[in-house]
Amino acid sequence: MPIVCLTAYTYPIARMLDPHVDLLLVGDSVAMVLHGHETTLGASLDMMIAHGQAVTRGSARACVVIDMPAGSYETSAEQAVAAARRIVGETGCQAVKLEGGVDMAAQVAAIVAEGIPVMGHIGLQPQSVEKDGGYKIKGRTKENIAALFRDAEAVEKAGAFSVVIEGTVEAIASELTRHVAIPTIGIGASGDCDGQILVIDDMIGMTVDRVPKFVKQYADLRGVIADAAARYAAEVRSRAFPGPDHVFPATRKDKA
Ligand code: KIV
Repeated sequence: MPIVCLTAYTYPIARMLDPHVDLLLVGDSVAMVLHGHETTLGASLDMMIAHGQAVTRGSARACVVIDMPAGSYETSAEQAVAAARRIVGETGCQAVKLEGGVDMAAQVAAIVAEGIPVMGHIGLQPQSVEKDGGYKIKGRTKENIAALFRDAEAVEKAGAFSVVIEGTVEAIASELTRHVAIPTIGIGASGDCDGQILVIDDMIGMTVDRVPKFVKQYADLRGVIADAAARYAAEVRSRAFPGPDHVFPATRKDKA
């Protein structure tokens, strides 16, 4: 059965999603979605740990994975291990995720050797958006397809327990899934992947800016919130709110 994954960044959302998903990812997308940064490069280790703590508090059964933010692991295996240890030690999450293939295999192997499970992330890597000159779909050229296979093999060999494939041509993501033994988790990839993930705010219609093509919106919470705010504003201005049920009379008939 496909592995069901969603991102989560807060305690109430983790509590709501936990019964329905196999895996909750505290993605570094939190920097964009909740903090208003332009890219995921705005995420810091402290930010990931704070949101990670909220999500682990709200989760009883799902596997919680926390993204390693840009700048916390690329320099060396030692740097990566120190950051991964901090994330797991301070949040109690089950695993970390980092972006990269062949170039990050040493980091994946070193973290795994510490007993910390690692999820890989290949294909479109949002932390490389500045280097790549934008969000570019992968798997469109022969060279890039070969690189994708090398990356998938490298993270598998380094000991990753699973790998996210993002923003990759469907047929290539399907082939990659058949090629590696570890489960692939697709986002803008293929229905053949072993699991799927979406950014929670995208799929519930909370995203303020651009929603990627690969997102299916299952709810329109922006509309619900805008409507509630508009009705509240109208009732405050007309003094319809607060009504008799929302204030405390001098004689105590009810509880606060
Ligand atoms: O940061 C994130 O939310 C992610 C997922 C989109 C896979 O890495």
